[in-house]
Amino acid sequence: MTTTPPATVMATDRGGNTTTTRGQGLQIRGLRKTLGGRDIVAGIDLDVAKGELVSLLGPSGCGKTTTLRMVAGFLDADSGSIRMGEADVTALGPERRPSAMVFQNYALWPHMTVQQNVAFPLRTRRVDRTVADQRVDAALQLVNLTHHARSKPTAISGGEQQRVALARAIVQEPDVLLLDEPLSNLDAKLRVEVRDEIRRIQQRLGITTVIVTHDQDEALSVSDRIAVMHDGRIEQVAAPATLYASPATRFVASFIGSTSALDGSARGLIDDALLTRSDVDGGLRDGDEVLVRPESVHIVAPTEGRLMRVERVLMRGHFSEVVLDDGLHAFVGRPPEVGSVVGVRVDRVLVYRDGLLVGGAS
Ligand SMILES: Nc1ncnc2c1ncn2[C@@H]1O[C@H](COP(=O)(O)OP(=O)(O)OP(=O)(O)O)[C@@H](O)[C@H]1O
Ligand SMILES: [Mg+2]
Repeated sequence: MTTTPPATVMATDRGGNTTTTRGQGLQIRGLRKTLGGRDIVAGIDLDVAKGELVSLLGPSGCGKTTTLRMVAGFLDADSGSIRMGEADVTALGPERRPSAMVFQNYALWPHMTVQQNVAFPLRTRRVDRTVADQRVDAALQLVNLTHHARSKPTAISGGEQQRVALARAIVQEPDVLLLDEPLSNLDAKLRVEVRDEIRRIQQRLGITTVIVTHDQDEALSVSDRIAVMHDGRIEQVAAPATLYASPATRFVASFIGSTSALDGSARGLIDDALLTRSDVDGGLRDGDEVLVRPESVHIVAPTEGRLMRVERVLMRGHFSEVVLDDGLHAFVGRPPEVGSVVGVRVDRVLVYRDGLLVGGAS
């Protein structure tokens, strides 16, 4: 098999970051949708490289499902274009796009067996029976459900039903797999199991995938890149580690991980931070917001840092979260006594001006 080197495509997000990715997976340009007089999707550009998994992450109501439904073809866009591979699919219905979507409620037919549910999309496409049977068997094997082929959906667990929905999408051998909150109906343990399974299958088959989620842990653990959505727009697209270390906007910083604002007396901590004036464009100005992540806040001897009182200690399992003066949070291994006075230093801060990151990130 010969492979053509994919075209290079670029996209720029609101934070001004330009990402260059391999093309030919999914390309979304200028996607817009107004519903009920509101701009629900307000101009989205996104490239997903072939075989890449991108999560669309954002709070409830920010337009994730609306975006995914337009990509799948279940909802017409007001404007913009969608390409899958080399083809412009903008004007095509869902059945003519090389994509398959898994809906949040997985919509299995209760009167059909697992095998029949998975075979259904192939029946409607009139795929030859022998070929269809082979593909259904392979899909069921992939999601580890061969032993439940003859069960009805009501006789299997939530996680198994979720995997049937996944098999029903995979059996179509889509170029682009679209998953809307695929884990939201599962309990915490199953969620991790099915999440890892989806990632394993996606990587094994090399399917270009978009997963919609509002769960940052889910997005951070399975994605090649994450697109953070807010009010119908993408705020930033980046690899999980980049997104966490250098959130391009104030919104992304508050949505991914936790942060405390440095104001009041805590602002004095900046002097001790590694932050130098040259890190911040034009130096720190009035009105700049300075944020710090709990792992960048360190408790040291009183002589070595700014003095602060320990307000509260929250047990988090293998570490503790210490709440200090001014609502500053620190993650520590061994917590100090509540009410004691400790030295505090920070080694890294994030500075935002007009909502955009201007410095302090490494
Ligand atoms: N047909 C419609 N008419 C009017 N408003 C709509 C319609 N469909 C969706 N909306 C609105 O669009 C906004 C975005 O909806 P969408 O379902 O895309 O959000 P979401 O990001 O998927 O949220 P969630 O995480 O809760 O699923 C919501 O405020 C919703 O009320
Ligand atoms: Mg939704």
